[in-house]
Amino acid sequence: PSIVALISGRGSNLAAILDYAKHTGAYKTAAVISNRPGAEGLKLAESQGVHTEVLDHTVFASRDEFDKALKRRIDAHAPDLVVLAGFMRVLTPAFVKAFEGRLVNIHPSLLPSFPGLKTHQQALEAGVRVHGATVHLVTAELDHGPILDQAVVRVREGDTAETLAARVLALEHQIYPRAIAALLHQTIRQTDGQVHGALAAP
Ligand code: GRF
Repeated sequence: PSIVALISGRGSNLAAILDYAKHTGAYKTAAVISNRPGAEGLKLAESQGVHTEVLDHTVFASRDEFDKALKRRIDAHAPDLVVLAGFMRVLTPAFVKAFEGRLVNIHPSLLPSFPGLKTHQQALEAGVRVHGATVHLVTAELDHGPILDQAVVRVREGDTAETLAARVLALEHQIYPRAIAALLHQTIRQTDGQVHGALAAP
C-alpha cells in the first residue's frame, strides 16, 4: 500500500514514517506535499529519494480552492492513506469527507484532552500527571476523530512546555508509523466511528 504525507515544517514525524517503511516495507510513500515552500521536511524527503511537491496556500484566494487543488494533487498518486505529519492547515469539511477513513493525524496530547494548539502548555496549566500523543482518523471536527493509538508520558516536577514536547515527540515517532502500518494492513479497522483490533506491542 501507499501513502501521501502532508507537511508544513520540520518533518521529524515524516522522518520516522520514512524510516519505518525502509525497515519494514510496510508501505510506500508516493509523495510528500508541503504547503510551505521552505519546509525542512522537504529536504529530508528529497534526500531519501521521495517525490516532493509544494502547494503554497498563500497563492489561493480561499481555503476551499486550496483544498480542491490539494485533493487533485493527492488523487494523482491514488494513495491508500493520507498522512498529516505536522500539516498546520485546517482542512475543509469537503476535503475531510472526500478522504473519510483514509486521513490520519498525530496530535501532541491525550485526546480528547487538549485539542488545538499549545497542548503542552495546556497540560501544564491543567496540572495533569500524565500527558502524551494521539494518532487519530480525521473528521470534520478538529482533533476529534476516532482514536487509533496513544502513548503516555508522566509529567515531571519542573517540566516546561519544551521538555514535555521533547518527550512526547519521541513517542510520536514510535506510535505514528506503527499505526499507519496497522491501518493499511487492517490490523486495526474502523467501522462507524469505532476502532477495532490490536496494535502490536511497541
Ligand atoms: C508534532 O508535534 C505533531 O504532533 C504536530 O505537529 C508537530 C509536527 O512536528 N501535529 P514534525 O514536523 O513532525 O517534526
